[in-house]
Amino acid sequence: YLGTMTNVDGVLEIGGVSVKELQEKYGTPLYIYDLEFMEKNIKDLKESFVSEKFKTTIVYASKAYLSKGMTQIIEKNGLDIDAVSGGELYTILTSNFPTKRVHMHGNNKSLEEIEMCVKNGIGSIILDNRFEAEKVALVCRKFNKKMNVMLRLNIGIDAHTHEYIKTSKHSSKFGESIFDKDVVKIVKDIVDRPELNFLGFHSHIGSQIFDELAFCEGVETMVEFTKKISEKLNICIPDINIGGGFGVRYTQEDTDVNLKKIMKKIIRCLENSLVKEGMDIKNVTIEPGRSIVAQAGSTLYTVGGEKETYGGEKYIFIDGGMTDNIRPALYQAKYESIVANKLNETEKEIVTIAGKCCESGDIIAKNVRLGKCRENDLILVSCTGAYGHSMSSNYNKALKPAVVFVKDGKSYLVSKRESYDDLTKNDILLENIF
Ligand code: LLP
Repeated sequence: YLGTMTNVDGVLEIGGVSVKELQEKYGTPLYIYDLEFMEKNIKDLKESFVSEKFKTTIVYASKAYLSKGMTQIIEKNGLDIDAVSGGELYTILTSNFPTKRVHMHGNNKSLEEIEMCVKNGIGSIILDNRFEAEKVALVCRKFNKKMNVMLRLNIGIDAHTHEYIKTSKHSSKFGESIFDKDVVKIVKDIVDRPELNFLGFHSHIGSQIFDELAFCEGVETMVEFTKKISEKLNICIPDINIGGGFGVRYTQEDTDVNLKKIMKKIIRCLENSLVKEGMDIKNVTIEPGRSIVAQAGSTLYTVGGEKETYGGEKYIFIDGGMTDNIRPALYQAKYESIVANKLNETEKEIVTIAGKCCESGDIIAKNVRLGKCRENDLILVSCTGAYGHSMSSNYNKALKPAVVFVKDGKSYLVSKRESYDDLTKNDILLENIF
């Protein structure tokens, strides 16, 4: 069991709330976030990502999971937050998050998105490339404002993770390459613009990375590059942002991860490379998403039925699937599951948990050992807190599930289940063409 999960007479409780009660109150599929667990992850990061040599900042990467309730938790726990789109930015700004603690990413920011950033006076914009500098400067001139900016770099580190979530190969679409022959000129152009206040460099080598060495290599490359540019341009560069991507254990087969240990190791690498380069830096930022929310979230489903095929596959059908968790279909991601209302069931079966979509790939877990279950039983899939809700879709016009936070025996609804009206409210019936 993870976080505050407990077995009370065979029924799973999370944060002191029984899953049966949650099903009755909110229906299924349901995303459940264990607040205590999430806050413990944040505390671990805050306690371990510290240095006596420089200030540290932790920015929650909201793409992992975002709702207004989530921004409140991030704000209360003292982290900054980032956005990569107007939609994420809007969600954050309309939850009264302090604007100076908001940072904007994205490899193709529209003028409208940049205007939202500048008008609201957010903390910083991370420029993806040389062309964005001109766009941000243009908007700053229009509103007579100045904006803090960083430049995203591609530092060419091929971290070991799924091909789709690598971000720092030479061919990646993100950032300006440190190997580009014009890179000094590109930085100079940003530094020289009066509308922009250049803070420093950003990099993010990918997501779900377990390899500490890749992070250290990244950090060293960033420090070396920062030194080189500050000397060439004769400027002081106060900030380094090394992104997120810290790996999370989804199943027993994954490597066990000690987040605090990884943070301390990164700090040590940073301090060592600063000494080696004879350099000072004022502030170092990380941007974890998954490591804060993945394990704290799970998805509760109701079993609709079962089927044994002629080919010998035993299916358990659940009332959600790839529409609330695309990760198995997209990245062959593995998850663990339990029959949450029958934890003491000793009879086990090998089954495949399948969703409702018209898609053979709509499988949440293949050939997994599960307690014997039947119609109306509850299945809980754990570790779905990151990139589950945020990558959910309305394929087959599925309704996006509700989201609840649980803590100390209480549950709090933070997103309502979508309704059929929500699904069709933007459709317009054709008139006068028949
Ligand atoms: N910073 C930047 C610039 C990023 O691009 C990302 C993730 C993060 C921070 C946070 O990374 P994290 O700590 O969550 O690993 N949909 C994929 C993951 C895509 C990650 C994209 N960028 C998945 O479900 O595995």
